[in-house]
Amino acid sequence: MISLKKMQNRFEYISIDNDSASAKIALQGAHIFEFKPHNKRAILWMSQASDYENSKAIRGGIPICWPWFGQHATDESFPQHGFARTSMFSHVESKEVDTHTTQVTLKLQHYPQSLAMFPYRFELLVKITVSTILSIELTTTNLCDKSFEITQALHSYFNISHISNVAVHGLDKKRYYDALTGEHQEQVGDITFSEELDRVYQEVDSVISLVDKAKVINIENEGSASVVVWNPWCEKCSKMSAMENDSYETFVCIESANALDDFILLKPNESHTLKATIA
Ligand code: BG6
Repeated sequence: MISLKKMQNRFEYISIDNDSASAKIALQGAHIFEFKPHNKRAILWMSQASDYENSKAIRGGIPICWPWFGQHATDESFPQHGFARTSMFSHVESKEVDTHTTQVTLKLQHYPQSLAMFPYRFELLVKITVSTILSIELTTTNLCDKSFEITQALHSYFNISHISNVAVHGLDKKRYYDALTGEHQEQVGDITFSEELDRVYQEVDSVISLVDKAKVINIENEGSASVVVWNPWCEKCSKMSAMENDSYETFVCIESANALDDFILLKPNESHTLKATIA
């Protein structure tokens, strides 16, 4: 079943329930804020303190960072992680492929405020497939007569039993940029968490696994060579918007990205697709 629903404050989202899973997708930001295979725990973490309000970023789920990841390169007054996550997408298509698989496609195009921050005409299509797995395809098309560059991320917040129980596999020997120190380093072994961590792993071509006690989540990326791994730990968490003091204990972000040197250059009429499959 696919239905368009409204919260009491009129915040709109698409609700999906099929034989494999349920999911909720906000029209603002094409933001998936729930994905739950039947008889399993929710895969995505959502902050209990998050607002669902137009023009405010949702804390949790999968925010779409676009057309820039992190701070804007030249103007710090522009929103961190770009404007897509607080922009209203339009509904293109919803279909029940079979009783186990539902697909929803949403679209964003340039609009007056976007042109003030990113002076290019574009189409951003987000195709979401909900089944036993979740896949998200983010396709950017340049509708302009000049080239543009983007960085981007599917900023997935994963629900975990406790931060001390988890390890991230698949990044051993990968170079990373440490956003906390500004240094470049090489990963040794798996990633575990005992303090704030904010890194962009580069030239990544393998499946990333989040191992949590008996549960493993695999993240497979296409059209992306960067993976961001982030946990704010206690001090930063207590200062962040829409977080509770102990929120950092129950999520880790593993973000499928095109960041730093892995930016995407699109000539007129060219398209690029970033795809993440979460299983
Ligand atoms: C991560 C960044 O991707 O997003 C962090 O690496 C940042 O530096 C985090 O703090 C959350 O960003 P925001 O804008 O959603 O609070």
